[in-house]
Amino acid sequence: MNKTWLITGTSSGFGKELAKIVAKQSDTNLIATARKIQDLDYLNEFDSSRIEKSIVDVTDFEGIQKVAKKAKKRFGTVDILVNNAGLGYFSTIEESDMKQVRYMFDVNVFGLANMTNAVLPMMRAQKSGIIVNLSSALGLVTVPTMGFYSATKFAVEGYADTLRQEVADLGIQVMNVEPSGARTDWSGRSSNKVVPQISDYQKFSDSVENVSDSVTAAPGDPKKIAQVIFDQVTKEEIIPEHLPLGDFAYNGGLGSLEKIVKEIKSRKNVSLSTDD
Ligand SMILES: NC(=O)c1ccc[n+]([C@@H]2O[C@H](COP(=O)([O-])OP(=O)(O)OC[C@H]3O[C@@H](n4cnc5c(N)ncnc54)[C@H](OP(=O)(O)O)[C@@H]3O)[C@@H](O)[C@H]2O)c1
Repeated sequence: MNKTWLITGTSSGFGKELAKIVAKQSDTNLIATARKIQDLDYLNEFDSSRIEKSIVDVTDFEGIQKVAKKAKKRFGTVDILVNNAGLGYFSTIEESDMKQVRYMFDVNVFGLANMTNAVLPMMRAQKSGIIVNLSSALGLVTVPTMGFYSATKFAVEGYADTLRQEVADLGIQVMNVEPSGARTDWSGRSSNKVVPQISDYQKFSDSVENVSDSVTAAPGDPKKIAQVIFDQVTKEEIIPEHLPLGDFAYNGGLGSLEKIVKEIKSRKNVSLSTDD
C-alpha cells in the first residue's frame, strides 16, 4: 500500500527538494503544504492522483487541523510527517527583538508541535508512523548571534527526545535531522537579522552582515540532504534518532556533546553530593 507523506514548508529549500523526490515515486502519496498555493506549481509535472497541495501556515492552528482532516479523507492517513517549515534569526541575545523571537518560536517549535499533534491520532490508530523534524546543527552546538535560533532547535531536540519515549511502543519513530549550513533561502528571506549596535558586540557584526553570502557559499547541498532524509526513512528499518549532516553538525555537534560529558564527569562528586 502507498505510504503517505505530509511535508510542511515545501515552497523552497529542503522541503521542496524532498517533495520532488516523494512526488516522483510510484508508491507514495504526498501532501505538500506551503503558505502560498502557487509556490507548489512545480508539482504540476508529477502524477496529481497521488498529490494533494494545501495551504498551511504552521502558526494557524485551524489550518493545521484542516490539512490533517484532508489527508485522512483523501489518503486515509499520514505515515510520514516531515516538520520542515522554519525560520532563522541572527542577533546577539541582548539585542534580539522579543516579538520576532516569539514569532520564530511559534513557527519552529509550537507550529511543529501542533502539526505533530494533528497527525498523532492517525499514527497511534495504525500503530505506525515516522515523524521527521528539521532541527539543525545549531540544535546540538551554539555560536554567537544565533542564540535564540539555537534555543528553538534545542527546544525541538528536548521535545522530540520526550515524544520518542512516549510513542516508541506505539510503533512511531521520531528522527531529528541536524543539517549544517546549506544553500537554501533560510539565511536570506527566511531570517531576520539585527546587526549589533552595542560596541561590546561589534566583533560579531561581520557574522550578521555577511550571513547571506556565507550561506550562499555554505557546503550543504539541499538536494543531497533531501535524498539522505528520504533514504533513511524508506530504507532503514530503525531510523536514527539524530541525523547530523555535514562537517559542522558532525564534528561541531560531537565536540559540543563531548565537552558537556567531560565537564559533568569532572565534577561527579559535587553532582552526586546533593541526594540524601
Ligand atoms: N539551510 C540551512 O542552513 C539550515 C540548516 C539547518 C536547519 N535548517 C532548517 O531547515 C528547515 C527548512 O529550511 P530551509 O533551509 O529549506 O530554508 P527555506 O528555503 O527558507 O525554507 C523555509 C520554509 O519554511 C516555510 N515557512 C516559514 N514560515 C512558515 C510558516 N509560518 N508556516 C509555514 N511555512 C513556513 C517557508 O515558506 P514561505 O516560502 O512561505 O516563506 C519555506 O517553505 C528549517 O526548519 C530550518 O530551520 C536549515
